[in-house]
Amino acid sequence: MSVQGLEAATRPLLEGRDLRFGYAGGPPVFEHVSLDIGEREIVCLLGGSGCGKSTLLRLLGRLEKHDGTQAGGEVRLGGEPLTAPHPRTALVFQQPSLLPWLSAARNVGFGLDFQHQPRHDQATLQRRVDEALAAVGLGGQGDLYPAQLSGGMAQRVALARALAREPQLLLADEPFSALDAITRAEMQELLVDVVHRWHTAALLVTHDIDEAILVGDRILLMGGRPGRIVHEWRVDIPRPREAHPEAVTALRLQVLEALREVRHATAPGPAV
Ligand SMILES: Nc1ncnc2c1ncn2[C@@H]1O[C@H](COP(=O)(O)OP(=O)(O)O)[C@@H](O)[C@H]1O
Ligand SMILES: [Mg+2]
Repeated sequence: MSVQGLEAATRPLLEGRDLRFGYAGGPPVFEHVSLDIGEREIVCLLGGSGCGKSTLLRLLGRLEKHDGTQAGGEVRLGGEPLTAPHPRTALVFQQPSLLPWLSAARNVGFGLDFQHQPRHDQATLQRRVDEALAAVGLGGQGDLYPAQLSGGMAQRVALARALAREPQLLLADEPFSALDAITRAEMQELLVDVVHRWHTAALLVTHDIDEAILVGDRILLMGGRPGRIVHEWRVDIPRPREAHPEAVTALRLQVLEALREVRHATAPGPAV
């Protein structure tokens, strides 16, 4: 393999370098944040509420203003500078945000033929919608309307909508937080399964330690004020992880301890 070829093969899919961000008129939310996501890798970004996880995810997806005095750093996707939302970077949020007047299938297909998307014929678009619905376990149920879907089914449709873009990278912001515990566990399993089968990489933002350990190949812990990436763990526990409760518990304790340390370091001091 040529040196260039080797570089392309080992280069991370997404590279964020020295990222910083502050909302207009406010203090910096985070600074000096660098992170990589490899091809087909699942990275979990874990941190307490308000530490800047969602802001960082949106900055990486280029949904936030990324230059000027309040923001900076560089994001590359596949080695190319990323300056605007990319058609093969798909997003999933806590709320499925389905259009109530469109069927599940039409929600999944919505926007696939928009101008900034690659052009495809109708048969290809239909195939993508069908495959995406089947991948999330909703094959044959595309005619249902959002009002007919449970919370878990609606979030499956949102995941299918992301998959229909055949994303290289899935950016998911607490996508399961609003679901009950059993549905959440099912969706965590589904996410891992789908990401593996579709050869997609994923960044999953979560405040749930167990979710990060069950889902991630790697966990990044964000904390501090302004926020930084303060810890990183590679999760080498074989899947399914539930089959290795001792290893899961040991890692859980490490992560919990680190989370406590960050909290302690950033807690306001006693009033004097
Ligand atoms: N649109 C906004 N305008 C101003 N401040 C915001 C906005 N969104 C979030 N913030 C602030 O930025 C910080 C980080 O928020 P966020 O990224 O949502 O954290 P997290 O996702 O970790 O809970 C918080 O202090 C929050 O209040
Ligand atoms: Mg958030």
